[in-house]
Amino acid sequence: MKKTLRRSFSLVILFASLCVVARAGQAPVAEVRALFANCAACHGTDGGGVADGTVPAIGGQPAKVIAQQLLQFRSGQRKDLRMEHFADAEHLTDERQIDLVARHVAGLRRSTPAKRGDGSQLVLGARRWSEGCAGCHGAAAGAVVVRGIPALAGQHAPYIERKLREESNGMPGAPTLSQSHALFFKKLTPADRAALADHLSRLPPPEPAL
Ligand code: HEC
Ligand code: HEC
Repeated sequence: MKKTLRRSFSLVILFASLCVVARAGQAPVAEVRALFANCAACHGTDGGGVADGTVPAIGGQPAKVIAQQLLQFRSGQRKDLRMEHFADAEHLTDERQIDLVARHVAGLRRSTPAKRGDGSQLVLGARRWSEGCAGCHGAAAGAVVVRGIPALAGQHAPYIERKLREESNGMPGAPTLSQSHALFFKKLTPADRAALADHLSRLPPPEPAL
């Protein structure tokens, strides 16, 4: 009798702990969905951004890079009113939520094609990239996680062009990159910027990390 009781008691315990495991497995799915719904409203459900360059594509960027960028917006180190708002502690309560949403974004495959330039300056674009940028960003413009560099390959050309322009002007609200970047960007003519952006938009976007 005692034995049966003890056995059924341990079965109850086992069942209860299985329920907890099941809930723990499900909670992040619902949580991630809710967290990402905000992002998707601007960046798209595939993280593909907006072709006109107002919102960058983020799908498939490594989670570490995304998380780092979110923290930069949160601290105001990188300026953008929209992102500072959506990366604040009200929308992403702690590092765990930042990590959850970053990993979700990293797993997205972009279905939105990158908006390209007019294709007239591709030789110039490839030359400027290999001369001035590939040393840090890599020839294929993929992400360099250890340096916090996002993949620029497959990004919308108007976004890249805008970044290069704003950073070189030192526009208020724009200084998101290190000072040394502004120096590189200042040397670029408008034609160089368009050519670089077109070159990058045609490279294959990052593969999602699943
Ligand atoms: C209201 C619109 C909006 C929402 C909501 C939003 N973003 Fe953004 N996001 C932007 C814009 C605009 C930029 C570009 C800012 C700039 O020009 O520097 C951006 C930039 C970014 C970048 C930097 C990309 C890069 O390559 O530099 C990341 C990462 C990012 N967003 C992730 C997210 C995540 C994750 C969420 C949800 C938690 C989110 N965003 C919610 C509009 C939004
Ligand atoms: C000395 C190394 C180095 C060189 C050279 C360099 N970059 Fe970068 N780049 C970085 C790093 C590091 C980041 C990450 C952001 C930061 O600086 O905070 C970055 C970020 C960027 C971004 C920001 C993407 C975003 O929205 O977050 C763009 C665009 C970019 N680089 C373009 C270029 C171009 C174009 C060139 C060549 C003219 C270039 N970079 C040369 C190191 C470099």
